[in-house]
Amino acid sequence: MNRTASSATTSVPGVERPVASPLGAPLAGAGRDPSATWALAQALIHGRHHVSPRRLVAPGPDTATLLDLLALAAAAPDHGRLSPWRFILVPEGERARLGEAFAMALLDRDPGATPEQLDAAREKAARAPVLLIAIARLGAAEPDVPAAERLVSLGAALQNLLLGAHALGYGAGLTSGQAMRSPRLAALCDLGAGEQAVCCISIGTVGSFKARSWSRPQPQHLLSVLGAPPAPVD
Ligand SMILES: Cc1cc2nc3c(=O)[nH]c(=O)nc-3n(C[C@H](O)[C@H](O)[C@H](O)COP(=O)(O)O)c2cc1C
Repeated sequence: MNRTASSATTSVPGVERPVASPLGAPLAGAGRDPSATWALAQALIHGRHHVSPRRLVAPGPDTATLLDLLALAAAAPDHGRLSPWRFILVPEGERARLGEAFAMALLDRDPGATPEQLDAAREKAARAPVLLIAIARLGAAEPDVPAAERLVSLGAALQNLLLGAHALGYGAGLTSGQAMRSPRLAALCDLGAGEQAVCCISIGTVGSFKARSWSRPQPQHLLSVLGAPPAPVD
């Protein structure tokens, strides 16, 4: 790694990390046309989709690019500025140990698991060129921000990271499962008090694509009006 995460440049050629406007100057407002940034936001957010780790192939982002993506994650809202989450990178050389933890977690849950099922659990750790584990930090902290709020912060961080990967042309997906809550994984990751593994983040080049077979929720079904009878808002 040849530079720090606070550098103003990014790994993207010709692109500067926007630390030049640390005061959070609005993108739109008096005298500014928001249409371009709105169109960009819509294209980026509506264009992102889950890509299964088994469909992700090399190359994945290099270390510098990964740090740029984590800088996006670090821009997530964070009540109390607790940094209530962190990520663990699982390099190639450690995938087998993660796979073994997945297999042992399955065996703990189901002592009758077959060798094929154990191999399938192990194989999940071998997918995607870049694999991160998202860890929520839910233990005692000052100020005592509730766990739900800290998980909201992690969710926002994950979305920033997914959108950044998508913007760079990579595919990415989140995966979880019962192994995330397993003592095997906690031991492997050396989790501290109050820490919880939430999901894996896989990032890489999209090797094959599966179109979504469902539609996203309609916005009017996500909104109600206080004091009004339940009905879609037009
Ligand atoms: C915390 C979390 C865990 C997830 N775990 C899985 C998983 O184990 N397997 C999976 O196929 N998708 C998983 N997903 C991805 C969702 O299935 C996916 O986001 C959802 O289908 C919506 O699709 P979209 O991301 O393309 O909008 C997870 C998503 C989140 C937020």
